[in-house]
Amino acid sequence: MHNDIKKTVVSTNMLNAICVRLGKQISEDYANKKPLIIGLLKGCQPFVSDLLKNISVYCYIDYMTVSSYEGTSSVGSITIKKDLETNIEGLDVIVVDDIVDTGVTISSIRDLLLQRGASSVSVCTLLDKKEGRKVNVDVKYVGMPVPNEFVVGYGLDYNGLYRNLPYIGVLKEEIYKK
Ligand code: IMP
Ligand code: MG
Repeated sequence: MHNDIKKTVVSTNMLNAICVRLGKQISEDYANKKPLIIGLLKGCQPFVSDLLKNISVYCYIDYMTVSSYEGTSSVGSITIKKDLETNIEGLDVIVVDDIVDTGVTISSIRDLLLQRGASSVSVCTLLDKKEGRKVNVDVKYVGMPVPNEFVVGYGLDYNGLYRNLPYIGVLKEEIYKK
């Protein structure tokens, strides 16, 4: 698996530092609240678990699965495949995702959660691909900006694989031709 990677974009050490920094920031911002952290599966998984360990305030945790990419190109708007178990009315929600690209996923979810009565919805993403943006969405917590390149690892996949890489990297071109 490691042989398929052309270059590392975010190292394991950098990922740790990001989780410490964002965890601290969230803990300060939500000092007197009990936020509900919503992880977007499956990509959020390593990130949200490392992030949670650095959040020192009381918080609730839930997950959603929404449709995202097929291969390396976007498929437009989203479908909910697994919904929340929590009634979010009156809760301060933090949506955690692996990467914001077009912004379609995060902005649709944000609208949905506000419609369902959340008091507030903020967005936390590990990576921000600003150049890919098609809809404007306010992303409060960003781990790291990344260039408009397809990346894998630490939750991010290519056709279901590479989520278990402990760092984030770019695949060699030949992998896409297989
Ligand atoms: P958006 O709706 O275009 O912002 O898409 C966000 C989703 O697309 C992310 O949660 C990822 O699942 C997927 N995605 C976007 N860029 C990449 C990438 O470079 N590698 C892997 N998945 C990506
Ligand atoms: Mg995703």
